[in-house]
Amino acid sequence: MNRPSPAARVMPLHDLHPAPDDLSAEVLSGLRAEPRTLPCKYFYDAEGSKLFDRICELEEYYPTRTEIGILSDQATAIADSVGGEALVIELGSGSSTKTHRLLEALTKPAGYVPVDISRAHLTEAAARIARSFPGLPVWPVCADFNQELDLPALESSGARRLIFFPGSTIGNFDRPARAALLRRSANLCGAKGGRMLIGIDLIKDVDRLERAYDDRDGVTAAFNRNLLRRINRELGADFVPERFAHEATFDPVEARIEMHLVSEVDQSVAIGDQRFRFERGERICTEHSYKFTIGGFVEGAAEAGWALEHAFTDAEELFALLLLQTT
Ligand code: AVJ
Repeated sequence: MNRPSPAARVMPLHDLHPAPDDLSAEVLSGLRAEPRTLPCKYFYDAEGSKLFDRICELEEYYPTRTEIGILSDQATAIADSVGGEALVIELGSGSSTKTHRLLEALTKPAGYVPVDISRAHLTEAAARIARSFPGLPVWPVCADFNQELDLPALESSGARRLIFFPGSTIGNFDRPARAALLRRSANLCGAKGGRMLIGIDLIKDVDRLERAYDDRDGVTAAFNRNLLRRINRELGADFVPERFAHEATFDPVEARIEMHLVSEVDQSVAIGDQRFRFERGERICTEHSYKFTIGGFVEGAAEAGWALEHAFTDAEELFALLLLQTT
């Protein structure tokens, strides 16, 4: 028999038709720039997403497991601070584990709104959550959260809003982009009672930081080089990834991990009809991952309309989940 499942509470996808990413244009302009860069958002093709999942399991990579630990160990305190019947809006429909832990902890959430640029990720995330939380309305929104965000007139859109932005994804944003995202989030939440639960990675000893981005099994190195493989696959380029070394260093002035691919030899690479020469030692910057102090982050967030309500951290203070409130 084909009965509708009681878990089927996924509402029709609300599509804001985000402009699709233009890998070709961004790769070419990034490699023409001085210094050369490649956008870190392109790490996550099917292969890269698998490698990222493996990174999250590494002994050296503490952020994922620490954040999940905070969510689990302090679930009650988090739920008490957030209060009941919040509409949970997740920017980037990421890890099911984290969303699960949060929704499990909260008192009668009013609904779940995953926001993602990828229709496939969105549909998957929506279905997964709907299956686990029967009766919870799920409103998938296809949008680029780097653009102005507007929610559909959902049945629960009047509910108090809680933006969930875990994983220290905010660490990939440089200062102006970070301020803009925090400002848009405050607008999306509305004044008074709007909240955000955001994961940030904390500044700690350099060795610990650098090891998290340069693990002994070379998984992060493979993740970094996969960007070149992806460009080969999708743009018909002829990078030899093994001719680029993985490098991850912490810059204490900028308070960020900088990931690079460093050309090991003088070489030339073709991307379509374009040629790029790399000198031995020349670097391509592939990622910035900012680290924060709680005070420093809160100071920046204040300028964007947020005040700290509570900081949840682990015993070692490796990572923090900040509950912010609109001002
Ligand atoms: C997904 C951006 C949080 O910065 O730690 C992990 C990505 N890069 N290892 C991070 C990443 C290399 C990760 N974020």
